[in-house]
Amino acid sequence: MTTDTTDLKAHIRGIPDFPKPGILFYDISTLLRHGPAWRAAMAQMADTIRPHKPDLLAGIESRGFLVAAPLALELGLGFIMLRKPRKLPGLTIGLNYALEYGTDRIEMQADAVQKGQRVILLDDLLATGGTMAAGISLLRQAGAVVPCAAALIELTFLGGRSRLDVPFESLVAYD
Ligand code: PRP
Ligand code: MG
Repeated sequence: MTTDTTDLKAHIRGIPDFPKPGILFYDISTLLRHGPAWRAAMAQMADTIRPHKPDLLAGIESRGFLVAAPLALELGLGFIMLRKPRKLPGLTIGLNYALEYGTDRIEMQADAVQKGQRVILLDDLLATGGTMAAGISLLRQAGAVVPCAAALIELTFLGGRSRLDVPFESLVAYD
């Protein structure tokens, strides 16, 4: 089952002035609430990333988990969490990065990936690309090969794609 971009956009809500004045926030809550649309979006994303032959999927806390975990189930693959600081037990590796609205850090478990495994990184949205670029670097630090990255939504006017050195896939774009 797939859905076209018009359908998907109909389920994504733009909320003005959140989290601060002048920012139009693309809210996937309305997509998540709608079972058939959410399922169709995940099916479309599964079709998009399958050709890149992943061994594992990784998602970036927190909204990236909403994309990566169901896709991992759909594709029968394992799922890795890239988390906000001090959330993961055991030996971790981490990276600081610039965020659309400030700075942040992501961490992952040092033993999450075996050297050379193909790990696709997923998030809900690509804005400046800082989060995704940091995630790709961190996965490589852990030994992964990253064949592509993907997000449901891409804010093309922020040019985030140009910060990534892997193919990037998105289902809907706003300019
Ligand atoms: C948002 C969004 C992406 C990131 C995109 O996450 O979910 O992860 O920002 O921005 P960038 O491309 O400019 O780096 P946020 O940090 O707001 O947290 P959340 O996922 O926990 O809501
Ligand atoms: Mg996020």
